[in-house]
Amino acid sequence: MPATTPLPDVPGLPAGVTLENGEGGLPVLRVETARATGEVYLHGGQVTGWTPAGHAPVIWTSPRARFEPDAAIRGGIPLCFPWFGPGREPEMRPAHGFARLADFTLLEAREDDGDVALTLRLTDEDAAGLPGTDVWPFPFELTCQVRFGSTLRVAVTTRNTSAHVRSYEEAQHAYLAVQDVRDVRITGLDGAPYLDKVGTPGPHTQRGELTFAGETDRIYGSTSDVTVHDPGLGRRLTVTKQGSASTIVWSPWSAKAAAMADLGEEHWTGMVCVEPANVLHDGIVLEPGASHTTTVTYAVERS
Ligand code: BG6
Repeated sequence: MPATTPLPDVPGLPAGVTLENGEGGLPVLRVETARATGEVYLHGGQVTGWTPAGHAPVIWTSPRARFEPDAAIRGGIPLCFPWFGPGREPEMRPAHGFARLADFTLLEAREDDGDVALTLRLTDEDAAGLPGTDVWPFPFELTCQVRFGSTLRVAVTTRNTSAHVRSYEEAQHAYLAVQDVRDVRITGLDGAPYLDKVGTPGPHTQRGELTFAGETDRIYGSTSDVTVHDPGLGRRLTVTKQGSASTIVWSPWSAKAAAMADLGEEHWTGMVCVEPANVLHDGIVLEPGASHTTTVTYAVERS
């Protein structure tokens, strides 16, 4: 039985929003309105569910995810910061930076025109002592605004609160629910250059739509929106973005999934990751006091 994390004091919550001890006793905000249900863990500031009314779940979280203070939650929308994957320097560990291991603070929860808008924040002081903060020991403020409605919008603003120019990578590592990744098509990347992390590195150029026939792990240089066409669920899932120059597409496929204890060989077909990001030479550089916002909107429609 995991220890239950004491629930923090929070500002008044609007109707339809609760703060509870979720999986593993970790604090979770649960949203239930006429438009949607949703879920955000303070751990990682991580959305772990969004289901708009009349649709099947759109955001996928692994049935085998670990909900533990020192682990990253497998699924949902992990926020990768201040680096992506192995980072741009050899000593950058853990993978995807330290934000997904940190506990965010809820600043505000409000009803807004029928949607629920949540604002969470993470600073260098909140993250102090986490693995990786020794590699990137700089003052920062990350503000994550999550809006649950008939669409899901996640806006992450990074502010350089230090006295020096800083650079970082970031990603919204969204796990999208699909009927079967082997049947989906992704459009919106035609013509985009990409690096292939599992084949010949490249750079390559995407020709036409992207389909899946094996492990796929690609970093696209692209500011375009993408659409996931899912014939099995009979829907199109659109990922619209601003402030993002990279898109990562990842499917672990069977062997890699089987080797990951928090994923497993039986679940990988039901997800595909589409990750609006700013990575490699598209990492963000901020002057002291400056900020950058990446806004991503997820929407579904029947096809
Ligand atoms: C993707 C990366 O974004 O995340 C992959 O492109 C990586 O290379 C995947 O395997 C999962 O990473 P992690 O650290 O959550 O196991």
